[in-house]
Amino acid sequence: MKGWVFCVVFVAGASSCLGVCRFSPSLWCSSNAIAEECQVTSQCKQWTYPPLNDVKPVDFTLYYESLCPGCREMFATQLNLAYRKVGEIMNLTLVPYGNAQEKKDGSKWVFECQHGKEECIENIIETCTLYLFKNITVYFPFIQCMETTSGPPEKVAQKCASKFKGIDLDKIMGCSKGILGNELEHQMALQTNALQPPHTYVPWVTLNGVHTDEIQDKAVTDLVNLICQTYQGPKPAGCEKEENNLMHSCLRN
Ligand SMILES: *[C@@H]1O[C@H](CO)[C@@H](O)[C@H](O)[C@H]1NC(C)=O
Ligand SMILES: *[C@@H]1O[C@H](CO)[C@@H](O)[C@H](O)[C@H]1NC(C)=O
Repeated sequence: MKGWVFCVVFVAGASSCLGVCRFSPSLWCSSNAIAEECQVTSQCKQWTYPPLNDVKPVDFTLYYESLCPGCREMFATQLNLAYRKVGEIMNLTLVPYGNAQEKKDGSKWVFECQHGKEECIENIIETCTLYLFKNITVYFPFIQCMETTSGPPEKVAQKCASKFKGIDLDKIMGCSKGILGNELEHQMALQTNALQPPHTYVPWVTLNGVHTDEIQDKAVTDLVNLICQTYQGPKPAGCEKEENNLMHSCLRN
């Protein structure tokens, strides 16, 4: 009886006091077999397996320009799906500049964009949005909307701002028309021009900082799967393949 009490006090969490645990506490979590024998499996799990928030999310960066059809398609399909299904394990960075060029004129930067002046305006609106609303759950739906709505950039911004909470359009337009937006877009240019290897088209992606043809191909065909395969932690539900249609059909018997 004395021995039993001893066990309860000192072997916290282990209900076995019959002497079947032959290991000292420092070894309890050293293997599954020992943990099982000493009946501390659930306790060991808590500190042997890294909790979800200790695993780094996958860095995924999209270099794009606002009016390029391929970039817009990316926002409409792969990126939108990945954001909704596996956003929690993806560290998304958007860099709206793409194939634009810049040169300094006095104290300002002058941008020239592949799809004309409107593309430059929309790039800067999106850049300001990223800067002003650092929270992805606030800025992503707005930028995704802009990238999937046609029209003059300011009209599109107005339309999209009215759809989502927390988007202060006056702030965005103030930024985009002023010196702040100009400087922020220059930062996007620097980031794009620093790419190694340099981009040769857009959309252009990096995964954990790396660009290869293989990564690019996977990103534009099955981004969810690419993020899930790269992530080192336990896979979230969004990584599971969709059930096939059989589940939902009525089979004739
Ligand atoms: C997300 O990616 C950016 C670079 O693209 C990096 O600066 C930042 O630290 C990353 N955040 C997390 C939480 O990993
Ligand atoms: C981001 O915004 C969402 C929606 O408004 C909010 O629920 C969340 O707490 C915010 N996250 C951070 C880190 O501020």
